[in-house]
Amino acid sequence: MASRRRARTFLVPELIAKKRDGQPLSEEEIAFLVTGFTAGAVMAEQMAAFAMAVLFRGMSPRETAALTLAMRDSGTVIRHRGLRQRAVDKHSTGGVGDKISLCLAPLVAACGVAVPMVSGRGLGHTGGTLDKLEAIPGFRTDGSVAAFRDQVRELGCALFGQTAEIAPADKRFYALRDVTGTVESIPLITASILSKKLAEGLDGLVLDVKVGSGAFMKTREDARALATSLVRTGRKAGVAVSALLTDMDAPLGHAIGNANETREAFAVLHGEGPADVRELMLALGVEMLRLGGERSRAQARRRLEAALSDGRALAKMEAIVAAQGGDPRVVGEPDRLAVAPKGVVVPAPRRGFVRRIESKELGLVAVAMGAGRTRSDQAVDPAVGITVHAKPGDAVAEGSALATLHVRSRRNTAALRDRVAGAFSIGARRPAPRPLVLEAIRR
Ligand code: URA
Repeated sequence: MASRRRARTFLVPELIAKKRDGQPLSEEEIAFLVTGFTAGAVMAEQMAAFAMAVLFRGMSPRETAALTLAMRDSGTVIRHRGLRQRAVDKHSTGGVGDKISLCLAPLVAACGVAVPMVSGRGLGHTGGTLDKLEAIPGFRTDGSVAAFRDQVRELGCALFGQTAEIAPADKRFYALRDVTGTVESIPLITASILSKKLAEGLDGLVLDVKVGSGAFMKTREDARALATSLVRTGRKAGVAVSALLTDMDAPLGHAIGNANETREAFAVLHGEGPADVRELMLALGVEMLRLGGERSRAQARRRLEAALSDGRALAKMEAIVAAQGGDPRVVGEPDRLAVAPKGVVVPAPRRGFVRRIESKELGLVAVAMGAGRTRSDQAVDPAVGITVHAKPGDAVAEGSALATLHVRSRRNTAALRDRVAGAFSIGARRPAPRPLVLEAIRR
């Protein structure tokens, strides 16, 4: 009779001490910690101490991959049986005005690459794709794993939220890191992001690693280190990964706030909308089609542009919205989406050129207006938000509109208006244009 191998057991304090003293942990030791934490056998205090030890001592690529796989395997790993296309997703590390997923996912699916996308909600100054999708009347993001798999097979794309079955270890571990000062560790961020994404059953993943004042990573060096760790770890886990470092020193596009951003994403699907949103969507789309099997970058771009201009991307979004219970008419008529009844204009204090916009501050003002949340159990108001009229490099006259706040009532908005005005730096000289895509990391 074949004997079943029993998993080895370890003493948790010894594993923590090993990492504390800078010694590497084996795959088996890391899996033991994560499995025990998921089952409740490893205490939160112990996991917090482990996180702090990793923050100071770091992890080798091998350890990071082991942590990623153990967290991925703490829940369901989706298998897309019978799917003829490759499955490729995109993940953004989060920014202000980042509505790219809403136009990119249907566009790439319309080009024949499957996009099984599991997204999150906004927390802090960055918005979340789920909140933007839920600005569509009736749209549901809380289907089961089976419904997600079926929709990917039928439509080539599903836009769902994370269920309790997907990487539960990450959910608990992230909550612990959040309150113990241990978020800012590249191996821990890598394992957290990838464990959720790899559970979607992907062949490829494109990462949009944001850099700048509105991003998690403020410097290009930090963003490059995170992107390199994500690409390397994804590959070790058997998934093709590429990353673009992209600018987040100004909000993306003009719209901030949930329905406002959804409307702008749909405008891009109509061939309209801001040039930076369209450009970033195409740049990420090229990466996704390449991981989906397209050999030529130029041909990938042509395929994306064709699906945009002949209406296939729009039709795909309509089909996704209908499949997930939403009103598909909003895709063709984005003005059906909610907009707050009052507008408060933020005037330019002097003439000149917009040199910088503190996008984090705009994100925080949007949160204060009700577009985002400061606690994970808060509801958001889809109708409120900010429209940015002047972007870096634009000339403004004294008194011309820098931005408009979309509010339910004009009462108590003076402080918000001042904060938005203070987020704009206006100078006498036009700043040098900044590239949107700063660098690509593919190996
Ligand atoms: N986003 C995640 O999902 N995890 C982290 O650790 C940081 C950002």
